[in-house]
Amino acid sequence: MRISISQLKSMKQRGEKITILTAYDYITAKIIDEAGIPLILVGDSLGMVVLGYESTIPVTIEEMLHHTKAVVRGTKQAIIIGDMPFMTYHTSISDALRNAARFIQEGGAQSVKLEGGVTVAETVRSIVSCGIPVMGHIGLTPQSIHQLGGYKVQGKTEETATRMLEDAHALEQAGAFAVVLETVPTPLATLITQSISIPTIGIGAGIGCDGQVQVISDILGLFTDFVPKHAKQYAKLADTIRATVTEYDKEVKNGSFPTEEQGFSMDESILDKLK
Ligand code: KIV
Repeated sequence: MRISISQLKSMKQRGEKITILTAYDYITAKIIDEAGIPLILVGDSLGMVVLGYESTIPVTIEEMLHHTKAVVRGTKQAIIIGDMPFMTYHTSISDALRNAARFIQEGGAQSVKLEGGVTVAETVRSIVSCGIPVMGHIGLTPQSIHQLGGYKVQGKTEETATRMLEDAHALEQAGAFAVVLETVPTPLATLITQSISIPTIGIGAGIGCDGQVQVISDILGLFTDFVPKHAKQYAKLADTIRATVTEYDKEVKNGSFPTEEQGFSMDESILDKLK
């Protein structure tokens, strides 16, 4: 039985922190789910950390659905959030509804996430009115990277901070169940958290948020193209994998792998007949 979205608001009220991780495949999702993480985001960060794109912009809905299905198959208790990719919710409300529905109907996710505040509030309201829970995402919104001019901290001026507060309120009023605050100064993220009733989920937004989300390959030390300032490497799996495959290569070459232990025997008399 999966956790229900309605539990999240009471977690905020109780001051219980909400942990979220991304996942993109069956095995990783299974481990995260077994560890009791309540929400898993199939983020469009997929584009960079799994598919090798330079940004999230090229990610398609077909790619997102493919990975969402794998994550859903690996999980039993977590709420799965499907990240709606670039331009799948901007062209019209009916396109947004159709694409959000694909995450639920085909992908098996329980909710969707989309980027933007005031400008997508009407879309969020429509998706929520169809019974699909929506998570908002404001601050640094990677799908608008060309407009933002780079992966910079957002909301540092009075004007941009005011706009971000308005965005958070617009998402709350539109019925979003939570909002991601990405790369936002800690005091502003704390203020937003105190001014809305839905949980804020920070990524590079400091300790004042109701919860945190991290990209799984960042905290595992698996993605080494760059390490974002907001990420903490709890492990160095890239080093472990490199050492492991080097050891395997050495053993194949020097004949110490496989041993009898990894082999299969057969009836000697059958073998004799074949000789
Ligand atoms: O795509 C993603 O992984 C995200 C998180 C960084 C919030 O949107």
